[in-house]
Amino acid sequence: MAGYADLPVVHGMRYAVAGGKGLRGFLVMESAALFDVPGHGPAFAGAAVEALHAYSLVHDDLPCMDDDDLRRGQPTVHKKWDDGTAVLVGDGLQTLAFDLLADPTTHGDAAVRIALIAGLAKSSGAEGMVLGQAQDIAAETASTPLNLDEISDLQHNKTGALIRWSAQAGAVLAGEDPAPLRRYAVALGLAFQIADDILDVEGDAAEVGKATQKDAEAGKATFVSLLGLDQAKARARALVDEASDALAPYGHRAETLKAAAQFVVDRKK
Ligand code: IPE
Ligand code: IPE
Ligand code: MG
Ligand code: MG
Ligand code: MG
Repeated sequence: MAGYADLPVVHGMRYAVAGGKGLRGFLVMESAALFDVPGHGPAFAGAAVEALHAYSLVHDDLPCMDDDDLRRGQPTVHKKWDDGTAVLVGDGLQTLAFDLLADPTTHGDAAVRIALIAGLAKSSGAEGMVLGQAQDIAAETASTPLNLDEISDLQHNKTGALIRWSAQAGAVLAGEDPAPLRRYAVALGLAFQIADDILDVEGDAAEVGKATQKDAEAGKATFVSLLGLDQAKARARALVDEASDALAPYGHRAETLKAAAQFVVDRKK
């Protein structure tokens, strides 16, 4: 029997969490910094959402989903190992996320830990990210392409839900009102997805680190296919302003989160 550390699933889990932008973990850390949350709680909660996000990507890349060979500039987990290992890597990362949130290091008060756990479960499950992924799959075979409202709803779930959890996590850790951070994250999440759609059209696969032109090939309606590139870019810029405005209650303390909103639409990967 191979030792725990030698198992492909363990290597695959480490591999899958490496090399991303870390946006969601960053949002947790920076939202916590607004309230001077002490200790390692923000790092644990940030690691949890990055593990959960990595799981979603490993499964998203599987042959039965998007069938992608490249992720973060490296072979996808099922290419480097095999499909079974990739399923288990995703499963292991998903449960690791909740394991981290349940750890007393995340917060000394069990009620706060439960709020984070329940929130991440809702955001990632069949009312959140999984719902968005299901809507995405359904859209591929729909007889009529989705309209703008339907795409916005899909993205609100697929990409937005985890981003909203991340930006609010700092307030939850601090016992403060998360409402302004939620408004910020709603705009940021949509801007992020419009940028993803623009990169799919305009990006260079080597730089983006994943295949491009996938949406057009799959005949998928996106913000870009419906609005055109120029309008999609204008919409993304307006959302950056909206996200920044939502941070007004925090004054100059929120400069880094404002810069993150700008980064989300300027990014090349
Ligand atoms: C990619 O997310 C998948 C989408 C939700 C569009 P990111 O662009 O945040 O991926 P990494 O973590 O930086 O690789
Ligand atoms: C995947 O969306 C998002 C999740 C895994 C929730 P996409 O399929 O559009 O992401 P990429 O383009 O492969 O990164
Ligand atoms: Mg997908
Ligand atoms: Mg994909
Ligand atoms: Mg995409």
